[in-house]
Amino acid sequence: MTDPAFIVGLPKAELHLHIEGSLEPEQMFSFARRNRIDIPFPSVEELRAAYRFSRLQDFLDIYYQGASVLREEEDFHDLAMAYFARAHADGVVHAEIFFDPQTHTSRGVPFGTVADGLLAGMKAAEARFGITSRLILCFLRHLDEADAFATLDAAEPWFDRIAAVGLDSSELGHPPSKFARVFGAAADAGLRRVAHAGEEGPPDYVWQALDLLHVDRLDHGNRALEDPDLVTRLARSGMTLTVCPLSNLKLCVVDDVARHPIAAMLAKGLRATINSDDPAYFGGYVADNYRAIAPLVSRDQMVTLARNSFLGSFLDDAAVTRHLAAVDAFAGAC
Ligand code: HPA
Ligand code: ZN
Repeated sequence: MTDPAFIVGLPKAELHLHIEGSLEPEQMFSFARRNRIDIPFPSVEELRAAYRFSRLQDFLDIYYQGASVLREEEDFHDLAMAYFARAHADGVVHAEIFFDPQTHTSRGVPFGTVADGLLAGMKAAEARFGITSRLILCFLRHLDEADAFATLDAAEPWFDRIAAVGLDSSELGHPPSKFARVFGAAADAGLRRVAHAGEEGPPDYVWQALDLLHVDRLDHGNRALEDPDLVTRLARSGMTLTVCPLSNLKLCVVDDVARHPIAAMLAKGLRATINSDDPAYFGGYVADNYRAIAPLVSRDQMVTLARNSFLGSFLDDAAVTRHLAAVDAFAGAC
């Protein structure tokens, strides 16, 4: 099995990380104190004990409640810096992070407070740790199309600092088709597109993400494996899948990490990557996710997963080439 030090040392990108999902319980209490906000848990231990989920919605309920302690630009800056410090310790050299503006604007926090705080944290992390990053604006799919359009409008002054739009929150009952027009408008504005699909939703939602949202990358995608034609389409097009093993375990997408389909995905020629999703809630950052699937894949496949993380990123070709050379040099030297 791949050595844990090799996993940490392997240069890697993280492509599926909800910054609000990196809010650790201790930090939640400290932001709550700083902003004089009540949280309905008496202690960090009791909050952590509530992190037992049997499906996506159980998690989302507590995740949105947790995000309510984030109010000021400084909170978003500090949240981002804390994530980048952990990611850096795990060997992440590039991260493309999701944020959920509607979770904040619906509480009266202006879009700019969120975006400017995160962008400041991203800049500071690059100076401190050398980690490069990109920002991805996610629409909450349980809200309606008009709300997504209003969010896209609010984001316009930041379009030069936002790499892509994404789609997250409650998947079942909220198919990608609901957002085809807003994704079309984002594309017209020059933004890339990603979407969560096939986490709990059926293969048809993955087809819709491809054909109606024209995604550049697919988040999760586990249930695509149920449809051989879809697997062929994904493999032939070189679509990147941002797979999140510990999230899959915690949200009961898989019942045992030993039965996680990562090896099957690679065997079918899918460009899978490993990511942490919501690390503060799911029990680990990116290296923990690589460690979780280490018994299922070879050392060469670990290297492939790290290579895929750069191939699937929104970095330019020269940067991708540089990172791939660093992965190969590291793997060759160990
Ligand atoms: N799925 C859908 N929405 C989310 C997730 C997820 O894993 N994490 C944060 N929002
Ligand atoms: Zn996610």
